[in-house]
Amino acid sequence: MNECEIKKRALELLSKMSIEDKIGQVTQITFNADNIEESCEKIRKIKPGSIILCWSSLGGAEKQQSVCVEALNILQKTAVTETPSKIPILFARDVIHGHHVAFPVPLTMTQSFDFDLIERSYDAIREEALSDGIKWTFAPMLDMSHEPRWGRIVEGPGEDPYIGKMFARSCVKGFQTKDYSSENSMLACAKHFVGYGASEGGRDYNHTEISDYNLQNNYLPAFKEAIDCGVATVMSGFNDVNGIPVTGNRKILTEILRNQLGFTGFVVSDWNAIAQLHEFSGFSENPKHSAGLALKAGVDMDMVCNCYFDNIKSLLKEEKITMRELDSAVLRVIETKLRFGLFEKPYAKNRTYNKEQHILLSKKLAEESIVLIKNNDNILPLNKNKPVSICGNFADEGEELVGTWSLDYDKSLNKTVREAIGEFNQNIHNFDESNRDEICLVVLGEKREVTGEAACLADISLSNDKISLIKKVKQSGRKAIGVLCFARPIVLGEAKELFDAIIWCGHGGSMASKAIASVLFGESEPSGRLTFTLPFSIGQLPIYYNSLPGSRKINGYYSDINPRHGNYKDCQGEPAYPFGYGLSYTTFKISDFACDSTALINELKNGKSFGVDFSVKNIGNCVGVCVPQLYIRDLVATTVRPLRSLVRFCKVTLPVGETKSLHFDIYLSDFGFYTETGEFIVEGGKFELYLGENCLADNKKTVELI
Ligand code: NOJ
Repeated sequence: MNECEIKKRALELLSKMSIEDKIGQVTQITFNADNIEESCEKIRKIKPGSIILCWSSLGGAEKQQSVCVEALNILQKTAVTETPSKIPILFARDVIHGHHVAFPVPLTMTQSFDFDLIERSYDAIREEALSDGIKWTFAPMLDMSHEPRWGRIVEGPGEDPYIGKMFARSCVKGFQTKDYSSENSMLACAKHFVGYGASEGGRDYNHTEISDYNLQNNYLPAFKEAIDCGVATVMSGFNDVNGIPVTGNRKILTEILRNQLGFTGFVVSDWNAIAQLHEFSGFSENPKHSAGLALKAGVDMDMVCNCYFDNIKSLLKEEKITMRELDSAVLRVIETKLRFGLFEKPYAKNRTYNKEQHILLSKKLAEESIVLIKNNDNILPLNKNKPVSICGNFADEGEELVGTWSLDYDKSLNKTVREAIGEFNQNIHNFDESNRDEICLVVLGEKREVTGEAACLADISLSNDKISLIKKVKQSGRKAIGVLCFARPIVLGEAKELFDAIIWCGHGGSMASKAIASVLFGESEPSGRLTFTLPFSIGQLPIYYNSLPGSRKINGYYSDINPRHGNYKDCQGEPAYPFGYGLSYTTFKISDFACDSTALINELKNGKSFGVDFSVKNIGNCVGVCVPQLYIRDLVATTVRPLRSLVRFCKVTLPVGETKSLHFDIYLSDFGFYTETGEFIVEGGKFELYLGENCLADNKKTVELI
């Protein structure tokens, strides 16, 4: 069906719907897997547009009932045969970073800087979710954040809008495929629109204060990318932006989302968010008032609070909303269902998928996501024949590494870190001061329950008992290798100096431990890079590389070169490790950086690219993966611009001694920025380009746009 036919068909359907049928379509309900008949009865009564296969508000943290194709098909049959409009139900579940096979949590997977692999991973995740009849997922979560205290930072792409765009694209394409009306596709949902990651103080569900300039340049780009890739649905955030809750915010949900960004799918509220307008925000008086505000703002579907179901009829009667407003929401829901081909494929099929392949893919992504942040005297990779000691609170953890929002993972897949290491080297002992091992692996991590929704931390520094353990290891004369399994950025404190080597592993999914062992023993390359800044101290927060200049920063951060530029008297200006950072077991030389010194705006406007050439040589002793990164700085602009913004990167594998010539094309869009009203502008003048292996790259070229 083409777009014209979809619109026509939707109008035909709408014309035959009663008010009750319409209200049903804008309602999403929960269901109880233990009582199917009760759920069928609810379907006959409510005629819901969607059912969320989740039984509590904290879906990512609490145990959920599992789903089964047969049960879903019974419910669907009730909808398509026993309701007047016979419109099929959309079954939704939060499939965030894996289904049966868990992949790394989103923040960890972005460390791979391999968005092609991420897209293939979401392809696999989709196949697994479809095999359980799930047709709609609430991913990708695109909340850029500068707040490691915020538990949900682990669900998103980190601190950089460009990485956010790459993540949005790979996730939407992986779920929706090239043709989202096909049997093999699922609906994605870009969430939480918008600005939820700016939660003040990193407290969940908190107020956000975001200037229009910041909104346009940092928070919207990832959503714009998802929309340009055809994302079918968007979820509104719990937060308020500058005092107006998003769920009742017409400027955000209609003027920006639809009129500016061109979104044509439907908007679902977050869980109970419409009711929160009166329950918590003091933005509305009662459920009816909340329902009216949300519908008028642009929320098309109410997630589970029944404010729409209970109140739309009387709102219409009292002329607080118009039938036209209700019809617009209903049309968006049914047009999406028509585009998705749900009318032709309402039932879930028993499908099979290649689990072995997904396990391999998950392992590869987990390996590529591991960041080597320190490696004194090339102590890593480990020698398989030398005994090692092991200790730390995560030495015997396996399942915790699947990460938050793992609702349906196969528990049997996770090995503990000790078990996985044992597959390479059986000579492994508990750390004990009396043995003679030269090396001790100190495996430290955070449990998934302190990450994700409603799981914020006031203190993100490594605890004293962990620091004492590292000291004990060092005092025993051993080299200490930190294997760090924290899903959010943390403050390493003394551990930064104490450790001889550190690998940063995040929460790597079902294959996390195997990936850790494979990197430690050099079977795979540590090719991950940080997609966030690792702060030196909590007092530095927020700290992120693409902040606006202020008056004393030299790159994205305050500098320590001149003490006056350090900013805090009691703390260094720079972070512990910068954005984009990561080492390899070998070293690289980036040279022959060349580009024209001028570029013509008119030519760029006609789609011409601006070329940047360079070469990379592996000058170390083993094969390795280099991640060259190109940053841009607009030297003088009518609005203050960041001192560095990532615009390109690539991943290249190089054998020892080999050199590769590389090229980046950059376009007009890489030179410009958004005004407060959402207009994209490019101003002439000088720009600096920085090329290197992290955001502090100092290999510089200047180009003038004329
Ligand atoms: C609340 C969360 O904020 C959202 O991300 C999730 O998709 C919904 N609950 C549904 O589980």
